[in-house]
Amino acid sequence: MELRQPIRRAALADIEAQASRVAAMMSHIRAAMLRPEAKKSAPTLTAAELCSIAGIEKSSLNYRLKRDDLPEGELVGNRREWVMAEAREVVSALRSDHMRPAGAIAVTITVSNFKGGVAKTTSAVTLAQGLAMRGHKVLVVDLDPQGSATTLFGVLPDAEVEAEHTAMPMFAGEHEDLRYAVRSTYWPGIDLVCAAPLLFGAEFALPARQTRDPGFEFWLTLDRGLDALREQYDVIVIDTPPALSYVTINALMAADGVLMPLPPSALDFASSAQFWDLFSDLCNELVRSRGRDKVFEFIDVLLSRVEASDAASGVVRQWVIEGYGEKVLPIEIPKTSVTATAAAEFGTVYDLPRGSMHSKTLGRARDAYDRMCELIEQQIEAVWALQIEQTK
Ligand SMILES: Nc1ncnc2c1ncn2[C@@H]1O[C@H](COP(=O)(O)OP(=O)(O)OP(=O)(O)O)[C@@H](O)[C@H]1O
Ligand SMILES: [Mg+2]
Repeated sequence: MELRQPIRRAALADIEAQASRVAAMMSHIRAAMLRPEAKKSAPTLTAAELCSIAGIEKSSLNYRLKRDDLPEGELVGNRREWVMAEAREVVSALRSDHMRPAGAIAVTITVSNFKGGVAKTTSAVTLAQGLAMRGHKVLVVDLDPQGSATTLFGVLPDAEVEAEHTAMPMFAGEHEDLRYAVRSTYWPGIDLVCAAPLLFGAEFALPARQTRDPGFEFWLTLDRGLDALREQYDVIVIDTPPALSYVTINALMAADGVLMPLPPSALDFASSAQFWDLFSDLCNELVRSRGRDKVFEFIDVLLSRVEASDAASGVVRQWVIEGYGEKVLPIEIPKTSVTATAAAEFGTVYDLPRGSMHSKTLGRARDAYDRMCELIEQQIEAVWALQIEQTK
């Protein structure tokens, strides 16, 4: 006998019950994964890792630690490890010529793409961690009501985030700047402005303010809101929702640089074209029509979730390179195998324990993200140099 799929009606009450069931599960899952105190902690770094980040030989590490009176780490078994806060202290001393020079301010990077699931959040959080490991002070601004970046930082959007922890009050006009929302994270050197579903309210608040006050420029709310923070941070990384929403437009207008993760698939490539098309239409309407311009210091297209064995992706990769030219970063993030534990979904390659790097694909993904951070850091340094040049 043929088995037919029965229809299952769902009234709002059913959906509510289902939502709270899943939310309760999430709390349990998180608690179980992050036991004992349901808090994430940043990894420690070994001497080899410090040397690799600082670009020095192991032999000169000991000398520099003594000479500059830097933290010497702790013996774990027969090797030394540095907790992240101390590792950052060592790294920023060893890489002093890569740190933000006096007179320069934070470089803001918005991670964006129309398309869902292209690794925006993964790239944003990994970039923030990588830059913090290189000694920089980073602010992550989560602008996606899904709060995925917030979740990766070990904070549950539904249960632990209030409006005051998000950009919502700023978008609603209750605060001029975002300082009120900044909180520290488990990762030394990274602060966070959280997101939660309530941030979706910005999609109503911003157009309403624009209607009330035609002189209001909704697209500059975040740009202005970040001004008070730009001297305190080296880099500001903004994660956006998969849409060209009012909030995403704000994130792009506030950005010095854009990072667009793009998997080499035909649909994703097509969608990226629509994204830039729509964005330039919007810019014409909002910015050019007022006789102004919007200049990005850099736009980086990052080939993400690349499957080496997939023949079709080779073809699309060529399209991407042809279409975006030198904007394509000379590095690809490989698709990692699903052998990674479920816990990996709640962290990035930089959160995983050292042992898991024996998995080839994870090791390659980590190397690729290292290189991505290095390439983006070079652009950040170039923007700082430009800022100083312009103030002369
Ligand atoms: N290199 C990779 N290999 C395999 N899986 C990946 C890789 N990068 C990201 N993912 C997974 O793909 C999924 C989507 O990634 P992510 O949440 O970063 O995308 P996103 O663009 O931010 O999505 P959204 O549009 O919903 O915000 C996640 O489950 C993530 O763990
Ligand atoms: Mg995301």
